[in-house]
Amino acid sequence: MTLKVKNVCCIGAGFVGGPTMTVLANKCKDIVFHVVDKDKSKIEQWNSQDLSDLPVYEPGLAELIEKRRDKNLFFSNLVKESISKAELIFICVNTPTKKSGIGAGKASDMKWIEACAREVATYAEGETIVVEKSTLPVKTAETIKKILFSLNKENYDKKFSILSNPEFLAEGNAINDLENPDRILIGGDDNEAISLLEAIYLRWVDKNKILRTNLWSSELSKLTANAFLAQRISSINSISALCEKTGAEIKEVSKAVGMDSRIGSNFLSASPGFGGSCFKKDLLNLIYICNYYNLDVVADYWQKVIDINEWQNKRISKIVTEKMFGTIYKKKIAILGFSFKANTNDTRESPAINVCLDLLEEGAMLKIYDPRVKSNQIEQEIANNKDKNINYEGQWLKVENIYESFNEADAIIILTEWQEFQNLNWKEISSLMKKPSWVFDTRLILNPEILNQYNFDLWSLGSTQ
Ligand code: NAD
Ligand code: UGA
Repeated sequence: MTLKVKNVCCIGAGFVGGPTMTVLANKCKDIVFHVVDKDKSKIEQWNSQDLSDLPVYEPGLAELIEKRRDKNLFFSNLVKESISKAELIFICVNTPTKKSGIGAGKASDMKWIEACAREVATYAEGETIVVEKSTLPVKTAETIKKILFSLNKENYDKKFSILSNPEFLAEGNAINDLENPDRILIGGDDNEAISLLEAIYLRWVDKNKILRTNLWSSELSKLTANAFLAQRISSINSISALCEKTGAEIKEVSKAVGMDSRIGSNFLSASPGFGGSCFKKDLLNLIYICNYYNLDVVADYWQKVIDINEWQNKRISKIVTEKMFGTIYKKKIAILGFSFKANTNDTRESPAINVCLDLLEEGAMLKIYDPRVKSNQIEQEIANNKDKNINYEGQWLKVENIYESFNEADAIIILTEWQEFQNLNWKEISSLMKKPSWVFDTRLILNPEILNQYNFDLWSLGSTQ
């Protein structure tokens, strides 16, 4: 291979493709990055002059887009042309859980990956390095290889190398994660291609953070990393329930446990359950693969991580209803936070969705506030997840001003840990709400002493205070 990388194509301008290519474009100003997507309206948003209208909200992203867009960073629907030009192609499309057919509810839906591989096979020219950035079942590279080579059997002008280079960024912290990664994982068997990809990262990442493995280790490491992270959350969440029964405080337990250097303090925050598009999907995928290889005990082990997460999520609405005298019918509840975590506009698998649906089912009236999530997004999540025959129209409302949600409210539920929820004027809130005024803190961000001062009835996850 005698390649020099001048043009990079990224297929998929989503939560990973957009921010990742933006950071790469900022680090490699001599390379042109073409981020393509079949979704026209998404590309229009990426090209919007109004930087608050980008399809992805990430701290620091808009500033970088402004610096690099239309210089060496281009967003378009020109899939064919961008593939033809590129020496290096990142596949960054979605790999959600299959909804129907074989493996429904468990296996990853590979139809977008296959479509990409076919497009690359058809339009690529000369030597091309194809990089799996999407999170994929172990052995996917084999399928991609098969498609690329079988569609070009007689074409000796085209050469492909397939690498796995999974992404480990966490939403809300994407730019920082991309600029300061813990590690860069590159799996493959073509050392020259690996070195070319490595050379891109070496512009800002230390060599000792770049890990070369075989393809299958790389694919499986990504699934395993997400499974381990999710497992920690389920572990701490299971203990949060025990704290509520025993008088132990989950924050104190997390701190004490996390100070053991063998355990470490990250990812020990109790919560209403993990959300986001990946943890559940990747765990389900791992479970599916284990079952496929008849490793049912291993599959059952990882299934428990999901079970605890669903149980924890369900627990919240039950506790809210019980505390509020067993009925929330027509009671007004302020929901603070709808995104699956702070600093993102992403609501996929957000724990807020099921909590809100349960409350709506009990007849509660919700005013939902989130600084980054739009009303139509909430509407879509509710519509996608509710029972088809139920209509919750008129029962919930998205408010733009947080204090509007407190007017005559019976309760407040904090579901996302947005920074602004930590600086509320509880004196004013107390004057706006009905009595008793319940506050449910599922993210442990409030100061109980301040709330006690204004006679709130506070319930905090994993606490008896
Ligand atoms: P996303 O849904 O936000 O974006 C995927 C994009 O790909 C969509 O805009 C879709 O229109 C586009 N697309 C699909 N098929 C296409 C095709 N054939 N041609 C052109 N465009 C096409 O998904 P995402 O959150 O960016 O995740 C992408 C992958 O990265 C997934 O495999 C995910 O597991 C993995 N991942 C996600 C994160 C995260 O934080 N979201 C982090 C690490 C890894
Ligand atoms: C996660 C991983 O952290 C990334 O490394 C990975 O690249 C990504 O999935 C992916 O593959 O998609 P992300 O889901 O964006 O990133 O965000 P996290 O910070 O991991 O949070 C996931 C969920 O867990 C959120 O709902 C969050 O509130 C919850 N969480 C996180 C807890 O409940 N407690 C914690 O201590 C940490």
